[in-house]
Amino acid sequence: MKKILLPIMAIALLTSCGSGGSNEGTEANDNTTNTENTDNSASTDISDNPDYQSGLALVAKNDCLTCHKVDEKLIGPPYREVADKYAGIPNRDSIVKHLADKIISGGTGVWGQVAMTPHPGISEPDAEAMVKYILLLKK
Ligand code: HEC
Repeated sequence: MKKILLPIMAIALLTSCGSGGSNEGTEANDNTTNTENTDNSASTDISDNPDYQSGLALVAKNDCLTCHKVDEKLIGPPYREVADKYAGIPNRDSIVKHLADKIISGGTGVWGQVAMTPHPGISEPDAEAMVKYILLLKK
């Protein structure tokens, strides 16, 4: 019995794949545009995100990179670790505001005893733009 069942199952599988395949064919056509849409907004290429572009430009223009790198600890924590630390917190707006305020006023005690210098010359919107860029770097 087993010897007979196996080929029958194989045929059953093949036919189900065959019909599934033709369904997928039409679905794949429908999906082509969807896939492209997801690609554009997906975090796989965060450099397409306008928050990334403007935030990165501000970070590069200010003194941030003398103390921070994306992946390595300098005087301050790596930006990717900052992003990971706050990634799970649901109220993103209050985190953005809190971190922007911290960049402007400086502070210590979250990552160690070394202090971040205050940046009184940076505006709140600019600081928030930099925070949004940093938070995009999460793994
Ligand atoms: C003098 C060195 C220095 C400079 C310049 C500096 N930082 Fe920092 N930064 C630090 C240190 C040190 C910490 C950790 C502070 C702590 O432990 O609370 C930190 C922490 C942070 C954090 C995380 C704060 C938290 O509470 O988790 C962010 C975000 C940040 N910096 C962004 C920036 C940005 C943006 C700039 C540029 C405008 C900047 N930093 C410039 C040293 C610096």
